[in-house]
This record gives sequence, C-alpha cells and structure tokens, in this order.
Amino acid sequence: MKFRTIKGTKDILPGESALWQYVESAVRRVMQSFNYQEIRTPAFEQTGLFARSIGELTDIVSKEMYTFLDRSEESVTLRPEGTAATLRAFIQNNLGEQSPLTKVYYIGPMFRQERPQAGRLRQFHQFGAEALGASSPQLDVEMMVLPLEIYKQLGIDRFSLKINSVGCEKCRPAYKQLLQTELRKVFTQLSHDSQVRVEQNPLRVLDSKDEKDRELTAGMPLMNNHLCDECAVHFASVQSLLDALELTYEVDGRLVRGLDYYTKTAFEITSTALGSQDALAGGGRYDLLMEELGGKQTPGVGFAAGLERLLMVLAKLEKNITASSVPVIYFVGLDEPSRIWAFLKSNELRRQGICAEVDYLGRSVKSQMREANRMQARFVIVVGEQELKTKTARLKNMQTGEETAVSLDHITFPS
Ligand code: HAM
Repeated sequence: MKFRTIKGTKDILPGESALWQYVESAVRRVMQSFNYQEIRTPAFEQTGLFARSIGELTDIVSKEMYTFLDRSEESVTLRPEGTAATLRAFIQNNLGEQSPLTKVYYIGPMFRQERPQAGRLRQFHQFGAEALGASSPQLDVEMMVLPLEIYKQLGIDRFSLKINSVGCEKCRPAYKQLLQTELRKVFTQLSHDSQVRVEQNPLRVLDSKDEKDRELTAGMPLMNNHLCDECAVHFASVQSLLDALELTYEVDGRLVRGLDYYTKTAFEITSTALGSQDALAGGGRYDLLMEELGGKQTPGVGFAAGLERLLMVLAKLEKNITASSVPVIYFVGLDEPSRIWAFLKSNELRRQGICAEVDYLGRSVKSQMREANRMQARFVIVVGEQELKTKTARLKNMQTGEETAVSLDHITFPS
C-alpha cells in the first residue's frame, strides 16, 4: 500500500522550499517596514466562527469547508481564511485595549474543498494583513500597497488592481431591493447558481462568471452609483490616495468578492500571467465584522494573497531566483581518522554559522568530489594522514579551480 498526498494538497519539496523561504522573507520584510506584527492563530477553529463571519450562504461556508465533529462531538473547521480567526484572537485577548490600532500579518496554510485545478488547491497558503481600529481610507489603500510592494520587490510588475465599494448597512439594503427587482425580470434566464442568489445575496449575481448571466445583468444598476454620502466620500478618498501614489487601478462596479463581511471598499489584484484562477490577492474593509463576532465596534480592513499563485507567476516570468543554500566547504576524507576529524571540524564551523558538509556514506574520494560538485560547494578540502600531521591542507575554489594552502586549525575562506 503506497500512501499519497490527498487530492488538492502538495508537498513542498527540498528543492522548492528555498524559493518559498525567499518569498516569505520578502513578505516579512515588507510587512515589517509597514509596521505590521505577525499573528499566528490555530489551523482549526469552532465552525460557527467562519459561518458567522464569511456568511452561511457563501460558497466557502456552504460548499467548501473542511468541517468535522471531533471526538468530543464539537464541530470544528480547518480555517478557510485568516480574517475571522484574527478577529477572534483580537477579541479574546483584548488586543484593542493595548493600542488603538492593531496592525497584524500572517503567513500560513488555509483549507477549502474546491475542485482542484492549476492555481487552485485544497490546502493552499496565504499571506495577509489586517488593520483593526481605524476607518481611515489610508488603511484601505495601505492594504493594496502592501501586496503590490511585495510583488514589486519580487520583480512582478504586471498586475491589475480592481476596486469597488460595496456600500454599508445604510445604503446597501435599498440598492439590494432595486437590484432584486431588476434581477427578477430575467430570473428564468439566469444560471441556477445566480437564481439561488437573487433572493439571498443578489450582489453576487453581478460577479457571476457565467457569460449569459453577465449579458443579462450588463445594464443593471451598480452599488457604487447608489452609495450613501459617507460611503461615497470614503470611496472618493480611496481613489484620490491611489492617484496620489500613481497606482493604476480600475473601478469595477461588479466586483463583489466571495465573502459576505465587506463594507465600503473591496478590491482584487489579478495577474495576466495566471490562467482562469487569476486572482493573486483580494481584500477590503469590514467595519461591522467585529461586532458580529461579539467584540466592541471596531472598524477593520485587510487583504490576503495566495502564495502558490505568486510562485506560479514567478515561474511564468522565469524569474531566476537562486535562493537555495549551498555548502561553503565540503571536506573530503581519505581515511577513517580524517573522516572523523572532518565531522568534528564541520560541527565547529557550523556553530560559527558556516554551512559545512562531509560524506556520511563512506564513499570513495572520486565520488566525494562528485558530490561536492553536485551540491555546488564553494570550496573543498581533501584531508588525509599527511594533512592531519602537518595541520595544513589545500583549499580548492570549486569555481576557479584555484588552490591555496590553509591551516586546519584556522580555516579562512577567501571572499
Ligand atoms: P480570498 O479572495 O478568498 O480572500 O483569498 C485571497 C487569495 O487567496 C486569493 O486571491 C487567491 O490568491 C488565494 N486563494 C484562495 N483560494 C485558493 C485556493 N483554493 N487555492 C489557491 N489559492 C487560493 C480572503 O481569504 C480574505 N480573508 C481576504 C481578506 C483579508 N479580506 C480582508 N482581510
């Protein structure tokens, strides 16, 4: 019986992990420069947390969550996203009392039982950020700038930013009714999924991917033309800040996003280098969510971005990121005492932070040299009886072939 990964999950193999680390360190660097601190929440939570925040009627909650009863019959769910858990942690740990504005980021696996395809996995990884405690449009823009800055630092400069305002509890109900009246006129011609949404979540009909649905709803009223004064002013500020930053964006009145908690700003970043799953990142404001989850009224805004999709774009652009670590020094031992000496010496160097490697397989000198080459070791020292006696050896630069004498007590590497 051979065990295999579960459909929609992937190993990140030794040859790939260095690239992941490289990307993750760019994420951490940018997050830190924007003064975001890391938060790590558990991989599973009470099911109700997600149902309540993301919305019972969304695809995520109604079709995609990994939900099960644990051994004490409690319903738990593998987290499908990071926002709900961040707010749960904020409330549970009274983070709002420690500072008026909490800026956090996260990197980690998320779980959704979607149909796997290129760029769509069942265990995937997101990096994201949430800013809790302020309603300034500056933070909405910061949530767009953060992923864009990370992409830029990684050399990705072709993406598209779409923004919209989905209104608030004051202006959305009236718009919803208006839209429903229009949608009912074409009800029988809509796709099955959209028909279900007409009564429950009519805004989502507008961002249906179905061609026919799009045609039928082409001239329908859009939320961003029916905003209350407060939402309209907020949306105008977001746009003027984006203009001031000289960021290119498109207002897309149909953009709704698949999570119900958004108020005011919603946005998505897509890449043409990706196929049908082209969303690199998405986010928005959620000023009512904290209260919905039992906390004090606290405005919030955030974003999350897929790591696998980012790596796919990097691969498509053929960005040559050589991030894997290579040994600085590989010791080739000629006999058993030399091998033991090499083992002890490499431990000493490793404690100084120098990546040193030896042969553990009792290989011949020739195959030890081959191994040093395969690992792309920068230097090789061959040690035998003679070298141990004189405490000197030849340090070979593997790139130039140049050899220099070194003292085995004080090995130094030319830069
Ligand atoms: P989301 O749009 O559901 O938003 O996910 C954000 C990103 O995660 C997507 O743009 C995509 O890159 C990636 N992603 C989502 N599902 C998959 C999948 N099955 N396979 C691979 N990648 C995927 C959220 O999750 C919100 N929590 C964002 C947010 C934070 N809003 C406010 N704060």
